[in-house]
Amino acid sequence: MPTERKKKFINTGSMRFRFFSFIGMLLLVLLLLLNIYPYFSTRDAVYQEKEKSMESQAATLASALAGLSRPDAESVAEVLRLLDIRDYDRVIVTDGAGEMIYNVGAGEALIADLETALQGKTVFRSALRDASFSSSYTMPVSAQGTITGAVLLHEDDDERGQILHDLQVQIRVVSLLIAAAAVVMAFIYGSTVLRKLRQLSDSMKIVAGGDYKYRMNAAGTDELAELGREFNDLTARLDDTEQQRRRFVSDASHELKTPLASIRLLSDSIVQNENMDEATVREFVTDIGNEAERLQRTTEKLLALSRLDDDIQVVPEPVDVKQVALDAMVFLRPLARERNVHMRAALDDGCVVLATVDDMFHIVFNLMENAIKYNVPDGEVAVLLHTDGETVQFTVEDTGIGIPEEERYNIFSRFYRVDKARSREAGGSGLGLSIVHDAVKAHGGSIAVGQNRPRGSRFIVSFPLYSIERT
Ligand SMILES: Nc1ncnc2c1ncn2[C@@H]1O[C@H](COP(=O)(O)OP(=O)(O)OP(=O)(O)O)[C@@H](O)[C@H]1O
Ligand SMILES: [Mg+2]
Repeated sequence: MPTERKKKFINTGSMRFRFFSFIGMLLLVLLLLLNIYPYFSTRDAVYQEKEKSMESQAATLASALAGLSRPDAESVAEVLRLLDIRDYDRVIVTDGAGEMIYNVGAGEALIADLETALQGKTVFRSALRDASFSSSYTMPVSAQGTITGAVLLHEDDDERGQILHDLQVQIRVVSLLIAAAAVVMAFIYGSTVLRKLRQLSDSMKIVAGGDYKYRMNAAGTDELAELGREFNDLTARLDDTEQQRRRFVSDASHELKTPLASIRLLSDSIVQNENMDEATVREFVTDIGNEAERLQRTTEKLLALSRLDDDIQVVPEPVDVKQVALDAMVFLRPLARERNVHMRAALDDGCVVLATVDDMFHIVFNLMENAIKYNVPDGEVAVLLHTDGETVQFTVEDTGIGIPEEERYNIFSRFYRVDKARSREAGGSGLGLSIVHDAVKAHGGSIAVGQNRPRGSRFIVSFPLYSIERT
């Protein structure tokens, strides 16, 4: 186990490795800049300032010396005193031949620089050594165009050297503190983020394993918490779908089981009962036929539903709803006559919608069939089709038993029936309205159910009107 952990820690492809290498590099670059930039810029500023002040003093001294006809140690000392040139650790003055006529103080005697100065060139050097700025300025002395000597000023500035040195030490201490704080913070933050990511991936594994009830802890306001909540929502939806699927399978098997059981029972009775009279046999076989028909209807509806579920992209076409309604009425007339229900239709022309004829037929047929089936003797069904130029409205009203308000939400669920006994007796499987609902949605329509006055139900289906200009 520990070796495995170790292996994970140095896995160069891991987020942890990338995160910490990134932070490490960033820190390194920042700290290098912090250490180098202030140090060098301060040092260079000191060099520049030294050059300026030493140049002006050396120039003053050189021009004063140029005025002396025969400079010697005393006269040079006098000039230095008069010009108030002090604070130098070493001052050297030579004559034109390079002989030192004045040489006071300790520190570097840069003979080479003096020789260069005697050739007419100025030399400035400054270096930071052992926390001290060591600077020297060497300049020719010239009178009437000839070089009559050279001066050298040398200075060791410990004070500024020390300041710069202290600054460097302080920057180093601060850098170390920043580095330590950054490492601690990156570690804490990185570990938190990585822990949450691992939680998320663990949760995904659990859910992928089939536990759709699992919810991860998604407290907080950051992006990862948001991701966790999205994940929980997704799992909840998965759970929902899974439950729906299970319920559907169990309802469907139950629905198929009942007629099958009747068929077995009826056929068994015929087989076992040898001296059954012909009339009873005929009655039983008719029942078997009815049950088989019911099975057939149910399986056809299940197939229609599964086709709607499949999301297979059927190419919609302009469908004239009036024609479909008239066709459905031809099919339903016998049922209406049998139930003694009167059908009335008021159908506008030009009610064209973008759908498929099959789906439109399912919608129209099921609504009208229900209006007849759940009606009362001598009841009425009104089928209305109307367009306002924008939408097409198809309405089916009946004067039947009506649907209690609290049931209206459920009737579109698969296998749902309000009055189980009555519906089954009417041969219903509880799938008609779910087919209607799915077909309406599949073609961008909407469906509403309400009460018909003074009694009965009213179903209203709306679709956008199809027009060539609009498409
Ligand atoms: N016009 C209506 N009046 C009263 N009740 C209705 C009406 N339409 C539907 N219902 C109720 O809603 C239930 C669901 O209707 P749906 O059409 O989905 O199923 P079904 O008619 O029972 O069976 P199927 O349509 O599959 O043959 C019905 O069982 C019935 O109780
Ligand atoms: Mg129905």
